[in-house]
Amino acid sequence: MKEKLKNVFFRVWYWYVSTVDKNAEVIFMNYGYSKDNHKIKLDENDEKNRYSAQLYNLVATGADIKGKDILEVGCGRGGGLSYINRYLSPNSVTGVDLNKKAIEFCKKHYSNERIKFLQANAQSLNFQDNAFDVVINVESSHRYSQMDKFLDEVYRVLKPGGVFLFADFRHEIELEGLNTQLKNSNFIFFKDEKITANVLEALKLSTSERENLIHKIVPKFLHGLGKKFAATEGTPTYNKFLTQEFEYLFCVLMKRPCTNVHI
Ligand SMILES: C[S@@+](CC[C@H](N)C(=O)[O-])C[C@H]1O[C@@H](n2cnc3c(N)ncnc32)[C@H](O)[C@@H]1O
Repeated sequence: MKEKLKNVFFRVWYWYVSTVDKNAEVIFMNYGYSKDNHKIKLDENDEKNRYSAQLYNLVATGADIKGKDILEVGCGRGGGLSYINRYLSPNSVTGVDLNKKAIEFCKKHYSNERIKFLQANAQSLNFQDNAFDVVINVESSHRYSQMDKFLDEVYRVLKPGGVFLFADFRHEIELEGLNTQLKNSNFIFFKDEKITANVLEALKLSTSERENLIHKIVPKFLHGLGKKFAATEGTPTYNKFLTQEFEYLFCVLMKRPCTNVHI
């Protein structure tokens, strides 16, 4: 019941962000990544989304995606796919999300980029078998009610030897369940890394920027809620990463068979 309520809450928040973000200032909705304050090379326009883009950089460079057909499940407002498209030279990029407003936003906002956006549920993807070389999933799966169905769908739409790049967080008591689901899936494991400390570093470094944006786009009575969603320093979510009650995982998995595939 609590989980269902949380899901509704998140959906309302995503809808609300879509409604108030008139100047398209929110194009990423993840907690970000930073390692020893190392900065990847970004154009000036992308600087304001540095830490979120760095999370995508980490995940997407978990495999060689140059010239590949990429699907992102749970693309949100498309900032990550646009980053991949502009910086990492894929052949094609497709993004899906459950949220209709997010997909409408993406279609309009990235109309000058060659990205396809479709509304779809992660647990029943409307694509043919063996359609993509790479599936990416960033900070979205914690909202899925049937993770095993999602994993089956990713496996189905990937080409043999295709790669699944996955990053998300879980409460410590859910971690074992997630690890079991991933290990029980048909995928071959290549990487399984906890990046909680790096997500926390990013949250710390981006707190003032996140707070400024919240003050700019949401009314004062919602500032506290906005900060909670954005996990700025001192909020309960931030503290859960600090105490490792929440752990953030990055995994690289591959669909069998994996002959002559280089990751
Ligand atoms: C925290 S946002 C992350 C968005 C994006 N990956 C990013 O990093 O900016 C989570 C996204 O997952 C989407 N989502 C939640 N449940 C989903 C489902 N069952 N199928 C597809 N997308 C879903 C939400 O609509 C939301 O856009």
